[in-house]
Amino acid sequence: MKRSILLSILALMAFQPLFADEGMWLPSLISQRIADMQSKGFRLSAEDIYSVNQASLKDAVVLFGSGCTGEVVSDEGLLFTNHHCGFSYIQRHSSIEHDYLKDGFWAMNRSEELPNKGLTVSFLDRMEDVTGAVLRGYSPAMSEKQRDSVIRVNSADLVAKAVAGGKGLRASVEALFYGNQYFLFVYKVFRDVRLVGAPSSSIGKFGGDTDNWMWPRHTGDFSIFRIYADKDNNPADYSPDNVPYRPKKSFRISRAGVREGDFTFVYGCPGSTKEYVTSDEVRYTAEVSDPRKIALRTLRLDIQKKYMNADPAVRIQYASKNASTANVWKKWQGEAKGILKNHTVEAKQKYENAFRTWAKGTRYEGVLDRLASLYQTRNPYYLAYEYYTETVRSVEILRFASAVAGELGRPEALKESARSFFKDYYQPIDEDVFTAMMTAFDREVQEEFKPAWFKEKLASYGSVEAWRKDLFARTLFTDPQRVASLTEADRETVLADPAYQIYEAFYRWYYDDLRPVINETNRDIRLAYRDYMQGQMDFEKEKSFYPDANLTLRVAYGHVEGYAPADGIYYHPVSTLKGIIEKDNPAIYDYNIPQTLRDLYAKGGLDGQPVCFLATNHTTGGNSGSPVLNADGNLIGINFDRVWEGTMSDIDFDPEICRNISLDIRYLLFNIEQIGHASYLFDEMHFVD
Ligand code: ARG
Ligand code: GLU
Repeated sequence: MKRSILLSILALMAFQPLFADEGMWLPSLISQRIADMQSKGFRLSAEDIYSVNQASLKDAVVLFGSGCTGEVVSDEGLLFTNHHCGFSYIQRHSSIEHDYLKDGFWAMNRSEELPNKGLTVSFLDRMEDVTGAVLRGYSPAMSEKQRDSVIRVNSADLVAKAVAGGKGLRASVEALFYGNQYFLFVYKVFRDVRLVGAPSSSIGKFGGDTDNWMWPRHTGDFSIFRIYADKDNNPADYSPDNVPYRPKKSFRISRAGVREGDFTFVYGCPGSTKEYVTSDEVRYTAEVSDPRKIALRTLRLDIQKKYMNADPAVRIQYASKNASTANVWKKWQGEAKGILKNHTVEAKQKYENAFRTWAKGTRYEGVLDRLASLYQTRNPYYLAYEYYTETVRSVEILRFASAVAGELGRPEALKESARSFFKDYYQPIDEDVFTAMMTAFDREVQEEFKPAWFKEKLASYGSVEAWRKDLFARTLFTDPQRVASLTEADRETVLADPAYQIYEAFYRWYYDDLRPVINETNRDIRLAYRDYMQGQMDFEKEKSFYPDANLTLRVAYGHVEGYAPADGIYYHPVSTLKGIIEKDNPAIYDYNIPQTLRDLYAKGGLDGQPVCFLATNHTTGGNSGSPVLNADGNLIGINFDRVWEGTMSDIDFDPEICRNISLDIRYLLFNIEQIGHASYLFDEMHFVD
């Protein structure tokens, strides 16, 4: 008897949410988690996190641009985010004469703050379950196509109503749980956002791509902006007459610091995860897609590095491109490794076997087989498509040619594209990339998938090298003056240009040969996942499910904790300035700290200055810049990364290994004061301890 109780408890436990710190929860439903949060140390209420009736913490969090998070820290619209989130804006203001990437930038008063064309921040006004309204008029007898059109019409209606009469409102209806649920999100979007401060890259990107995704970490990854509004506090285009935005809520800052075990939560906009996919999808990611893409990017990165090391101007030009190419490249490596090490594929297979047995006779019977056969059809096409994006679309001149062709009738837009393209274009890199990418395409894409056009081209030239020479000798797209002066009258010339023709031919191939199969199977895959997702929820009735990330606002909670990346090693969760000094090396670009910091340190007393810390919060790309908050909802850090060994958390969160990396807010304050000499900014912040 006893034994059988024990066994059933064990069996139950296997299906329980053991992984307490896994999850990216919807703020409006946080009341479902609040008891758990409070039992782990949180001292506020669900209403404090999200409320439509009163100002709540959500009113101090923004989507920064279209892929990062930021937090408001003063009543005058002051905003913190990551250095790497502000990077492209900092770069755009930089030149050899005033190189803010290299030297940092500090506005000494409001008039020195720098406007950033195109940069927006979006506050979530409200979110709402609209599943009923979205599916109004739908009946199960309808086809998928009819269902889609019902959803489209209803969503458009909801969106139109939501934004009516409001200034700067944007709304969208998002599918959660693969379309088992729909939520409306309404945002207020501000368009005048100015740069206030940024450390030099030697602090803000300290450790560079060497330390990226790694612990121990010592990156001062922050930048500071200010949101401006019109006189009525509404969103407006940039104008010198705009005034600092007065937010409903701003974060108080805690200087009390963190200790292992402390409760933390991250409030931000995670971009994309796939926690509920099948073993086939995981295997494709870890064993096929990631390794192939890693190899292609290695080729590209080596080329960039070679020219960047040789010329400081090229280093500035390619800083942002290089960082973003390297970033996911390294993430994929950690992810593929983590999945192998965790035996995620095998674990998923086991789970699927149990699911299959349970699903017999239910409406979920057969869904896994359907998915498996869809993947089998899709994957070869999808892989060819991934080659298309990683090779053809990484040759800058080809994409540029196509963009210009689309702008021929709009001279202003065209001039602007040409200006921003050539500012950061270095032809020798692009030429080498063309050669490397076409060679890889020829070598690695399955013979039956290669476009006939490509094979003929290559045969007629005899080699990729000869092809490259001819392309760059003949194309007009390497000539800034020529491009800037193109008009509608030049359409024939543009369409006959070899760069345009190559781009167009590959695009045709993608569009005609790959896309139809990919789109159709993907649609069926999504459809099958709608069932499989619901099936998993019915199968594990006791488990709390959170929807996969989709760049909507989420709360992740956990605690400060180190981890053991390998047998015999334990990583402590806190790093300090002492570690920066240990890494400091003027001969290595990534570790060459500013002399000011060396001098400050030499004066003594700064060994214990905190820099970064680790916690168990479940985060992903998009969470960069997110506020990291303590049990009282006060700001203690800014999220900026995850540890390499844990990057499989987008697919498989392992509570033992998965850690987010945050900047300790005290290091940001140290920089403002000691390096930026901009402590006037403290006057508008609110410190609680
Ligand atoms: N890994 C972080 C993220 O995914 C930081 C990236 C920026 N830093 C860099 N060295 N590339 O965005
Ligand atoms: N650096 C990432 C970002 O830009 C966050 C790291 C991650 O993927 O968790 O959002």
